[in-house]
Amino acid sequence: MSQSIEPAIKIVHMSKSFGNIEALRDVSLEIYSGEILAIVGDNGAGKSTLIKILAGALTSDEGQIIIGDKSYNFLSPGRAISLGISTVYQDLALVDCRDVASNIFLGREPVYAGFLVDRRKMQKEAARILEGLQINIPSLSTQVGLLSGGQRQGVAVARAVYQGGKVIIFDEPTAAMGLQESAKVIKLLLKLREEGMAVIVISHNLNQVFEISDRICVMCHGQVVAICKTKESLPNQIVGLIMGATVKEAYNAAGVYSDEAI
Ligand SMILES: Nc1ncnc2c1ncn2[C@@H]1O[C@H](COP(=O)(O)OP(=O)(O)O)[C@@H](O)[C@H]1O
Ligand SMILES: [Mg+2]
Repeated sequence: MSQSIEPAIKIVHMSKSFGNIEALRDVSLEIYSGEILAIVGDNGAGKSTLIKILAGALTSDEGQIIIGDKSYNFLSPGRAISLGISTVYQDLALVDCRDVASNIFLGREPVYAGFLVDRRKMQKEAARILEGLQINIPSLSTQVGLLSGGQRQGVAVARAVYQGGKVIIFDEPTAAMGLQESAKVIKLLLKLREEGMAVIVISHNLNQVFEISDRICVMCHGQVVAICKTKESLPNQIVGLIMGATVKEAYNAAGVYSDEAI
């Protein structure tokens, strides 16, 4: 892992309530370029709320997002994208009846003569982006609705990269996929890391988390309860933490104890 010293994004003291539900409680987290950070936690732990705030879809009650030397109390979706934060949601937000190239450029089509969509440029650029990410899609003029789950994910990621994404967030990227398709998506995540992106992945699949991540952030009841280096962790420890054990309990139960977690 080529971890830079300065985080790509820093979240500090972030809190968010919905009525009397504390969805996030004083969450602080740093995300680095060139790493895959997995966020794990039970349903309702606050994972989606956290990434929605990063993507500008929700506003936190307290806390800041720090990027470079700038601090933001909240982001709008457009601001998040212009700052290089792209989110690939579970439903992927693709337009099924349009083709691959159109979906990659959705709303940002290259134009000529001021307003005419430059189809040739789109096709060429789309091919270049997909090739760079080693995403294999037979024809760029195929309707996205006809593609497999993994290919659709590829199109959504190509769009994120085209938007200038430097921090790319995935919410359960392989949840509805078979093994072969999942393997392709995993390959893509590894490729993004190799390209120096900061990759955040929410996943319930601990095998996958252990296979691909550099660090694991465990959330429980709206709090970050541990941030562990994957190589120094065991699945049982992480399961314990997800279920609400303290770091010490989880590590003791797994037969190791470390002061270094969190
Ligand atoms: N829009 C909302 N309105 C009310 N409660 C919400 C809303 N979004 C999330 N919550 C609540 O906030 C908590 C955290 O939810 P969420 O971030 O979706 O968790 P996760 O993604 O880890 O399953 C849950 O208790 C959930 O019910
Ligand atoms: Mg969720």
